[in-house]
Amino acid sequence: MTDCPGDGVGAASPMELYEKLTAQGDKVRTLKTAKADKADVDAAVQLLLKLKVDYKHTTGSDYKAGCPPSEDAVVQDGGPSGDGAEEDTVDPWNVSTSSAKGVDYDKLIVRFGSSKVDQELVDRIEKISGQKPHRFLRRGIFFSHRDMHQVLDAYEKQKSFYLYTGRGPSSQAMHVGHLIPFIFTKWLQDVFDIPLVIQLTDDEKYLWKDLTLEDCHRFAVENAKDIIACGFDVNKTFIFSDLDYMGSSPDFYRNVVKIQKHVTFNQVKGIFGFTDSDCIGKISFPAIQAAPSFSNSFPQIFKGRKDVTCLIPCAIDQDPYFRMTRDVAPRIGYPKPALLHSTFFPALQGAQTKMSASDANSSIFLTDTAKQIKNKVNKHAFSGGKDTVEEHRKHGGNPDVDVSFMYLTFFLEDDEQLEKIRQDYASGALLTGELKKILIETLQPMITAHQEKRKQVTEETVKQFMTPRPLNF
Ligand code: TYM
Repeated sequence: MTDCPGDGVGAASPMELYEKLTAQGDKVRTLKTAKADKADVDAAVQLLLKLKVDYKHTTGSDYKAGCPPSEDAVVQDGGPSGDGAEEDTVDPWNVSTSSAKGVDYDKLIVRFGSSKVDQELVDRIEKISGQKPHRFLRRGIFFSHRDMHQVLDAYEKQKSFYLYTGRGPSSQAMHVGHLIPFIFTKWLQDVFDIPLVIQLTDDEKYLWKDLTLEDCHRFAVENAKDIIACGFDVNKTFIFSDLDYMGSSPDFYRNVVKIQKHVTFNQVKGIFGFTDSDCIGKISFPAIQAAPSFSNSFPQIFKGRKDVTCLIPCAIDQDPYFRMTRDVAPRIGYPKPALLHSTFFPALQGAQTKMSASDANSSIFLTDTAKQIKNKVNKHAFSGGKDTVEEHRKHGGNPDVDVSFMYLTFFLEDDEQLEKIRQDYASGALLTGELKKILIETLQPMITAHQEKRKQVTEETVKQFMTPRPLNF
């Protein structure tokens, strides 16, 4: 496989493109051997060249006969997919769709080549963990995965695994959307009783944003407090800032360099859309986000073992990093990390975009007061209700586009209560103002409780979590 640089980094249907190219190459050879008419040969060659350009555009790598793209073929995010999902852009920097219902996640699974979290998988997680599935699993919020069945097969044979997730500390305040992967990761840590590493990419934020190194590092420590407040077990959790850990861990850095050697500029251009004018820090950064997927990056936890499987819970915007990681893993002798992907917690203004810290009005921050939460929901939360009470009572509202209802699907624990709210809203029995009130009364105590827990996180606690040390494993 090492002869095939770019192996596995492909487009929506990279295999299809690859097969077309192979067939066209055969056709050109046949025509030439048969000394066919020059015009026919030229036309076939033209088509071959066009297909090669398409292949490179979609995959970021050159077509090479005998090197088919792997199952983790990478899509150029946001690029034409040919499957009708053209309008959805999903990458680590942008999420947008023209649909008020949000991104078409089923199409995204096809485009990204991942697998659906179906009922069978949810039942299996329930059986193996012995716990009721988390509401994020019951409601399809963690909707997509890579290799979860392999992780569970191994776990059943007493082969443990570890969790890896992260945060790019671009500001002091995290928003409610950022909690989604952390809440779920905490649940996974509890039910499987496994170690967790959390990467704070202060280096990434320095490279991408107009911030100083000092600010990024300070934000990393501040964000660590919010993450710790989610309830992680200090005996099983290591949180690290790249700016600190990269320089102090030779094993981590060795993995970064190995990854850098096995991914070409073309590939990262194809995956992340980098251009010639992007700084070289950005171009090599994906290797740093990839490295924690390999257990020997943490010798203090895994005692040099390189075979402990990694499971990464994150929203699907981070998947490009891990398609690249999975592509490179077998080529450097490591197991591929498995993934569990979540949908996006939408912006207050509607599910056309995700909640994002760069737009204050689109977000409910973990620092917001009860009053701010109430005002933001009442003023900005996009409503699926009708214009007048009479019309609403007569025709009902649309929960599928209603942001308050969507938020409740993330945070209201009781399935029956949620279903009743959905039915009452759709029938018109429940008005928009009443629905917003339920949401406000769900969010306010949740955020207040988070703020209380965060207050209890001392500098000493942060230091404990962020010190490289053995964990319970
Ligand atoms: P960042 O800081 O953008 O996001 C942190 C985590 O939150 C998820 N996320 C969301 N989930 C649901 N709804 C939203 N609106 C929403 N916005 C963000 C992200 O998917 C992510 O899981 N480069 C990364 C940091 C990182 C990382 C990782 C993330 C490093 N290693 C491993 C996940 C897994 C970043 O900037 O994340």
